[in-house]
Amino acid sequence: MSLSQSDKDSIKTVLEKLDWFAHLQPSELNALLLGFDKANMVKDEIMITEGKTGEIFYIISTGAVGVFLKRKLIDQQVATLGPGEFFGEMSLISDEPRSASVICLEDGLVFTLLRSTFRKVIMSNPFIGDMMRKAVATRRSENRAIEFSEMMGKGMK
Ligand code: CMP
Repeated sequence: MSLSQSDKDSIKTVLEKLDWFAHLQPSELNALLLGFDKANMVKDEIMITEGKTGEIFYIISTGAVGVFLKRKLIDQQVATLGPGEFFGEMSLISDEPRSASVICLEDGLVFTLLRSTFRKVIMSNPFIGDMMRKAVATRRSENRAIEFSEMMGKGMK
């Protein structure tokens, strides 16, 4: 879907709520507004599949998603993300496959950026790039802790 002026205004409203918005230069903000696309998401829609190659970065405008790690029997939900939060950054930064599946829990709207714009605008901004890398490190260690506790639980049975 291409963006209308009112979409651009609502992206700006979403971006303004993000802690890192203030660190965007006017030219970076323009590049983002040109680069963003939007997509509706519906409950139960699979937005990202664990193990696949990543091409898109998402910011949630409305609605909610769950983040799930693949498990032998039932996938495990590790996080719920809502308006103003982002997902899909890990594989774009690391060039590794998608680290988890992301599934829509509540109908909504997401703004999307292709890998090239994400890298050019988001990751080349020193403050925002650093914030993204820290978020990735935190999310990775959360997932490792969950995997570890599951392993220990199994080992003790
Ligand atoms: P990526 O690996 O590209 O695709 C799956 C996404 O799920 C990942 O990027 C993150 O955006 C998100 N994700 C993975 N683990 C967590 C977590 N522990 N908390 C929040 N989001 C996560």
